[in-house]
Amino acid sequence: MENGPDQKTSSTPRCLVLIGFMGSGKSSVGRKLQEQLGYTLIDTDQLIEKRQGKSIPKIFSTDGEDVFRDIECELLKELVNDSPSNRIISTGGGIILRESNRKLLRELGFVVWLKATPEEILERTSRNNHRPLLQTKDPKGAVARLMAERDSLYRDTAHLELDTKGLDIEEVCAGILDCASYHFTHGD
Ligand code: S3P
Repeated sequence: MENGPDQKTSSTPRCLVLIGFMGSGKSSVGRKLQEQLGYTLIDTDQLIEKRQGKSIPKIFSTDGEDVFRDIECELLKELVNDSPSNRIISTGGGIILRESNRKLLRELGFVVWLKATPEEILERTSRNNHRPLLQTKDPKGAVARLMAERDSLYRDTAHLELDTKGLDIEEVCAGILDCASYHFTHGD
């Protein structure tokens, strides 16, 4: 697409990879970028649910988190091996927990960390019970603890750290596309 990130010389696959905490807006931003660019959208959680034939909460409750992480890791390897281009990859919030995944995410393309405040995250994630890690008596405490554990991992993985506070979705996408164009043209 003419308004897509330009890629002149880099051998990095031309993908946009969205990472960030649960409820940070990865899915909505992924869909909007898909609409704007016409790229294929891959949502790792949705693909896992489709392939496993069960929801993420069901995978967590019947197989456990470790099994989910293994499936997530295998899917990421598969995506990298496909050497895809023109894709938007929206990921589950915990994909950065494994070091090997962090490396693979950067191989996949331009990695954007979507940041939201704990208040926004709590508000969005409380709308349903799809996040097993937040189904506790103290979701606020769980969000605070997980964010503290993960922030440095998101930071280490991302090419771009984007604070979404006060921005509408169009502004978020415009920021991503500007920075991605620069990255694909000039490298890191
Ligand atoms: C998880 C985030 C979820 C999903 C699973 C685990 C996490 O994805 O992969 O519930 O560990 O943060 P979203 O970030 O899309 O909610």
